[in-house]
Amino acid sequence: MSLQKISIDIILKNQSDSGAYIASPNFSVYNYCWFRDGAFIADAMLASGELESAVKFHSWATQVISARKAKISELVLRKSEGQRILPEEHLHCRFTLDGLESNEDWTNFQLDGFGTWLWALDEFANKGHVIPDVTLAAVQSLIEYLCAFWDEPSFDWWEESFGHQHVSTLVCIGTGLERCAKWDALPKDLRDRAELVADVIRSYILDFGVKGGHLTKWIGSEDLDGSLSACVSPLHYFDPNSEIATSTLDAVATELKMFGTYRHKNDVYFGGGSWIILSAFLGLGFAEAGEISKATSILNWISESANHLGELPEQLNNQLLFPAFEAEWIKKWGESAVPLLWSHAMFLKLFETVSALSGDSHASA
Ligand code: BGC
Repeated sequence: MSLQKISIDIILKNQSDSGAYIASPNFSVYNYCWFRDGAFIADAMLASGELESAVKFHSWATQVISARKAKISELVLRKSEGQRILPEEHLHCRFTLDGLESNEDWTNFQLDGFGTWLWALDEFANKGHVIPDVTLAAVQSLIEYLCAFWDEPSFDWWEESFGHQHVSTLVCIGTGLERCAKWDALPKDLRDRAELVADVIRSYILDFGVKGGHLTKWIGSEDLDGSLSACVSPLHYFDPNSEIATSTLDAVATELKMFGTYRHKNDVYFGGGSWIILSAFLGLGFAEAGEISKATSILNWISESANHLGELPEQLNNQLLFPAFEAEWIKKWGESAVPLLWSHAMFLKLFETVSALSGDSHASA
C-alpha cells in the first residue's frame, strides 16, 4: 500500500466521531487534539480529497470555541479595562476529544493554533466549501480574542520558551486575521479591525522579526526555528520567491538540516531529534519557489523514514543534538510518538503539492 493511502487511513482511524484528531494514539501525553496539529491535518486531508474529515474537524473546533464565547468576551473586556490576564486564564491549546480542557499541568497559553485554524478555514472556503453560520460566529469570537492578545508573550509551537513574542506564532495570528478580513460574511467593523491589526502584525514582524535577511525565532532574537518554513508554505504569508522566504528556507535547511529538520539548535526534547513535519514544511516552501527537485528529495526521504507498518514518527533519533537527554524523556513519558498524525498530514500535503506542481499525479511513495 502506498504511504499516501496509509497516511489517510491512519488519520481517519484516529479521528474521533466528534471530529477531533488525536495527536498520537500510542503516546499518552498526546491523547488530545491540538488546534495547531488539527488545523494542518484538516487542511492536508482536504487537499487529499478527504472533505468529510476536514468538515468534521472544523465542526469540532467550532464547538470548542462556541462553548467558550462568554469566556472570550470576558477576557477581551478585562483586557480593555487594563486588567492583567494570567497565562493560565487563557484558552487552552489542546482539548480532549470531547472538547474539554485537560486538568493536567501543561503549557497551555499558545495562540498560534487559533490563527492557523482561521487560515485552514479560509483554504476550505477558497476551495468552494461553505462555512456554516455557527462557525462564522466562532470565528468572530476568535478575531476579537486574537486582536486583543496577539502581542502577549506566550509559549511557542513547541510549548516552551515562555515570555517571548514568537515569530511563527505572530505569523499564524497575522495570516488568520488577514484571511478573515476578506470574508464578506463577517461584519464590516470586525473585518476592518482584523485588517488593521493584521497590518500592525506584518509591520512588526518585518521591523523586528528579521535578522540577516531571514525570519527569527522570536522578536529580538537572531536565532532560527524550524517552524519558520511554514510561514512560506503552507501558510503563504510571504511570497515563496521573496528574499525573506528564500533566506529563511536556506538558513533553516543549512543550520537546522534539510532531511530531518531540528526544531531549534538548543532542543533537548527526546535528545533533540529530526522532525518529519519540519522537513515537509521546507519541502513545501522549496516546491512553491520552483525548486521541485529539492522538494521531491525531501518527499522521498520522508517515505523512507516510515517504519515497517508505514507509520511516520514525530522525530527520528539517529542524529540527536543532545543524546544525553534522550533517556530522561523516555523515562518520563515512554518512547517518543509514533505514529504522529501531523507527520502523516504534512507528508500528504507535500505529496499533493509536489504532484500538482510537477504535473505528476504519482509524485512518489
Ligand atoms: C509539539 C507540539 C505539538 C504536540 C502534539 C509537541 O511535542 O511540540 O507542537 O502540537 O507535540 O503533536
